[in-house]
Amino acid sequence: MKPYILVTSAASGFGCALTEYLANNHYRVLGTYYHSEGSAEALVKKFSGQVHMIQADLSKAEDRARVVTYARHNGGLWGLINNLGVYSETWIENIDTVMFEQIFGLTCTVCFDLIQRTTSLIRHEVDRGSGIGRIINIGDSGADRIEARAQATPYHIAKLGVHVLTRTFAQRLGAYGITVNMVSPGFMENSVGEPGESIPLGGPTRFADVLHAVGYLLQPESRHVSGTNLLVGGAWNLG
Ligand SMILES: NC(=O)c1ccc[n+]([C@@H]2O[C@H](COP(=O)([O-])OP(=O)(O)OC[C@H]3O[C@@H](n4cnc5c(N)ncnc54)[C@H](OP(=O)(O)O)[C@@H]3O)[C@@H](O)[C@H]2O)c1
Repeated sequence: MKPYILVTSAASGFGCALTEYLANNHYRVLGTYYHSEGSAEALVKKFSGQVHMIQADLSKAEDRARVVTYARHNGGLWGLINNLGVYSETWIENIDTVMFEQIFGLTCTVCFDLIQRTTSLIRHEVDRGSGIGRIINIGDSGADRIEARAQATPYHIAKLGVHVLTRTFAQRLGAYGITVNMVSPGFMENSVGEPGESIPLGGPTRFADVLHAVGYLLQPESRHVSGTNLLVGGAWNLG
């Protein structure tokens, strides 16, 4: 049985396009969804035997453990794509601590936790001979600098955290043949709100633009690319 690549929030938005892209490129996908049951079932039906979806509230440790246990008993894992990120345009004055922790937890802590939980499975696949282990975190075009963030504050702090996790795990897991990178979209086709400034290369960024970057980082040819943050935003939001 071929090992899976695990994708979080894999049934809606960019995650849905990511699952389709990976399955069309012959990867076996283990995806999580929260409320998008209909779309998850449609993906499983369309790619029967190749895509498996698990309903999970990833804010809960027991749900994260259940997802990884399923992978361990059904072919293992050679890769992980942390796609989950929760964006809310709320102004900081209207954010309470519960909301802050929820958004930070889903967007950053889950990324950390799933890397910790899946490393032994991915190492096993590398050692077994698949030769490469891949971890990709979906970031944000603003996650490379510290600025005042009056809107979506916990989200932006969390994405900065994901950037630090990316570089740190790249350094720690390189010795095991695992690369860890971040792909940071700009203003995508499903973005909420307005870009606020023009997108030099014309926008919005298409899902396909970001998918090709992800695809490159999964290839054997990218064996020495690790710890990087690949911006895919049409030169938008560069400060
Ligand atoms: N869209 C953009 O323009 C843009 C720009 C820069 C970066 N990004 C990043 O790209 C990634 C994908 O973004 P997107 O716009 O496609 O996301 P999205 O459409 O906003 O979807 C949010 C996702 O979060 C999931 N979710 C919410 N609460 C959850 C919970 N408790 N447990 C598990 N899952 C939960 C939802 O799952 P269900 O649908 O199953 O309920 C949904 O898939 C994110 O990391 C985002 O930060 C996006």
